[in-house]
Amino acid sequence: MWLMLRGAKASWHHLSYSVLVLCFLAIQGSKSDVLWTANVNYSYVMENKTYWDEGEIGVYGHDSPVDRAYGLVVLPRRRQHHYSPSQCPPHLNFSVPESYNNAWIALIQRGDCPFSDKIKAAAEAGAKAVVIYNNEGNENGVFEMSHPGTKDTIAIMIGFIKGMEIVQLVRSNIQVTMVIEVGRKHGSWMNHYSIFFVSISFFVVTAATVGYFIFYSARRWRHTRAQNQKMKKLKDEAKKAISRLQLRTIKQGDKVLGPDGDSCAVCIDAYKANDVVRILTCNHFFHKNCIDPWLLEHRTCPMCKCDILKSLGIAVSYTDKILQMYFPHRLGKMQITAQLQIT
Ligand SMILES: *[C@@H]1O[C@H](CO)[C@@H](O)[C@H](O)[C@H]1NC(C)=O
Ligand SMILES: *[C@@H]1O[C@H](CO)[C@@H](O)[C@H](O)[C@H]1NC(C)=O
Ligand SMILES: *[C@@H]1O[C@H](CO)[C@@H](O)[C@H](O)[C@H]1NC(C)=O
Ligand SMILES: [Zn+2]
Ligand SMILES: [Zn+2]
Repeated sequence: MWLMLRGAKASWHHLSYSVLVLCFLAIQGSKSDVLWTANVNYSYVMENKTYWDEGEIGVYGHDSPVDRAYGLVVLPRRRQHHYSPSQCPPHLNFSVPESYNNAWIALIQRGDCPFSDKIKAAAEAGAKAVVIYNNEGNENGVFEMSHPGTKDTIAIMIGFIKGMEIVQLVRSNIQVTMVIEVGRKHGSWMNHYSIFFVSISFFVVTAATVGYFIFYSARRWRHTRAQNQKMKKLKDEAKKAISRLQLRTIKQGDKVLGPDGDSCAVCIDAYKANDVVRILTCNHFFHKNCIDPWLLEHRTCPMCKCDILKSLGIAVSYTDKILQMYFPHRLGKMQITAQLQIT
């Protein structure tokens, strides 16, 4: 059985290695393709009544810690004589109310400058987190921002419409506070694709392995059966040849029955009258029931080591055949040892 498995095992190792590599690649690929949403809850007090609006409207930036943040919403300071507020450094200043020294969150429009610049400027001004709302025309569209080098500043993106809602409130001098909570993890298209790809590869590899194993086993089985048949034929031939050797029944008064008479070298019993003995080509004789199985196994005369089967014309030993079939290496090794011993 181990012989049968050996070939299949080698290919199995190879295939399972491929599967491992595929899985590893898929995990590597999917890691950077994970996206976290943010639940944003902003609230404000108007006429002694608290209003709030909550929703999974944000997406954490690629380089942002995925963490909770809380604070007062602060807008960039408007530049005088400018129609629109500048949302880019170096004109990015924040109008944090004086005497306010709690956490605050900067709410900035996307604008045209890199996210990193804005986020860094806000963080330097003391913002705990940065919320960037998309430009006009993008309505509710959000995406995962790339902003390398912003360290532990939490940064999320929200849509234009939600951004403007909050901006309007803050501009009306309403204090808006915001809570950013971690939402859900989303695999991107690539991640789903990787899982699909790995599943398909795994299926294909498994199918191929099973197929190969079946093919290999069938071939091995056919080969073994053919060898067994061949050996059986050889053995039958040997039996037939042995049965052609002369038989003799020992009679009363035979000279082998005397006080210093012979005994069978196989069973070491002395011959008795009516024992059937077989006479080999070397003229040695033994009990028929003792020598027949002996010859099938050893080929040679137990007395003189003469190769009886060879002299009967059975050239190749089926015992050698068995060895060749099951232990080809052992046979090779045995020959090598013999050579070593000679020299
Ligand atoms: C949103 O914030 C307000 C004020 O802090 C709070 O009363 C409300 O329960 C929050 N909503 C959710 C869904 O957490
Ligand atoms: C809000 O509450 C305060 C007292 O807590 C009260 O003096 C004030 O009139 C209230 N304002 C409104 C608009 O209800
Ligand atoms: C904004 O910041 C820049 C650079 O620090 C500074 O030169 C400018 O005076 C600030 N503007 C306001 C309105 O504070
Ligand atoms: Zn015997
Ligand atoms: Zn002999």
